[in-house]
Amino acid sequence: MNIGIDQIGLYSPHYYVDLAELATARGVDPNKFIIGIGQSQQAVPPSSEDVVTMSADAAQDFIHEINTSKIGLLIVGTETGIDASKSAAVIAQRLLELPETIRTYEIKQACYGGTAALMTARDYVAAHPDKTALIFAADIARYGLEDGGEVTQGAGAVAMLISANPRLMTVEDDSQFISRDIMDFWRPVYTDLALAKGKYSTEQYIQFFQDVWRNYTQATGRSLSDFAAINFHLPYTKMGMKALRTVLPEADVATQGRLTDNYALATIYSRQIGNIYTGSLYLGLLSLLEHSTDLQAGDRLGMFSYGSGAVGEFFSGVLQPGYADQLHAAAHQQLLANRSKLSVADYERVFLNKVPYAADDYVSDTSMQTGKFRLTGVQNQERQYTIK
Ligand code: CAA
Repeated sequence: MNIGIDQIGLYSPHYYVDLAELATARGVDPNKFIIGIGQSQQAVPPSSEDVVTMSADAAQDFIHEINTSKIGLLIVGTETGIDASKSAAVIAQRLLELPETIRTYEIKQACYGGTAALMTARDYVAAHPDKTALIFAADIARYGLEDGGEVTQGAGAVAMLISANPRLMTVEDDSQFISRDIMDFWRPVYTDLALAKGKYSTEQYIQFFQDVWRNYTQATGRSLSDFAAINFHLPYTKMGMKALRTVLPEADVATQGRLTDNYALATIYSRQIGNIYTGSLYLGLLSLLEHSTDLQAGDRLGMFSYGSGAVGEFFSGVLQPGYADQLHAAAHQQLLANRSKLSVADYERVFLNKVPYAADDYVSDTSMQTGKFRLTGVQNQERQYTIK
């Protein structure tokens, strides 16, 4: 039985900061951010958006076109959850007015959470082929103002419906994965800012890719020439290319050209949005599918997932006949084109206005535009949400 991604949706906030302007404000050569890191713009979430609202907004691309009574499982993969106990998933289920007869929970393992949700959903559908699973990969990447990681922040969510006989892409049963307890990136529970050993995390990302790729080729007998494209987790757009370059010499010239060209297409959205942690790999997949004019049904795509801490996984998917009809390319390009640019001073103001790590009541900035769903604030330590 084929199982995989039947639908995929995207949401990213209405605001962004220009990274050439941010570089100038930080006394850095803009080319370092734009060429050296490979980021041009960065999504800035207002205080009225979080992983719950962004997830529910990402589902708007398809939720009204699917049979929601078939959903048996709803998972949010995130590393920026809004509570140490209650899951974002159960709130998203309410906001989306989904049936109660759904298992809802949240998964965490840094940026690997989206893939953990996908693989759990795949197994669920294998056991219950008449059911579907709705999964989200949603995050707000925050390192702090003037931090070395500031250029690699971002915000957004990807929603996916996983089903039997998917109309978009199968998720093949060919995964190779590795887990190792390392400290390259983490976020203690007292803060909303991530800690990263930048150079070490980059080295570990590449090492995990090389290890799972080697295991994958040994287990499957496949080589780079079997892939139309390889998608990477993209903390910043240069990162995946650093890993891809280490294996490209294994390939013939035509394969090298194809994988390099398709890598560039997979980074278009990330370059404008930034790191969305759990969703970054799937944002790359979406970017590739919505910009390529060469891909066709039957093409095999490689997928490399990396979550610091760390878990790495490599698997493949096969594009399905008519897959392009399931995409929302125009809507996503409009979502990005219609955004408002914030000055660096306004970005800093928005960045610092957030739900506090305290018992205080809080009112979010309702003057700022959101998607269909809005976090209005916190009252008596309970988050308050509204639907437009
Ligand atoms: N023009 C062009 N390029 C320039 C330049 C200029 N004027 N100045 C510098 N550069 C280039 C450098 O040569 C370098 O290129 P290479 O990487 O190809 O060598 C690049 O810009 C970056 O320069 P630095 O290494 O000096 O950058 P940095 O010390 O500021 O750190 C970073 C960059 C490590 C990404 C940092 O932003 C960071 O710590 N980010 C958060 C952690 C992270 O994203 N890690 C990625 C792997 S972990 C992961 O994937 C999980 C996750 O999502 C967090």
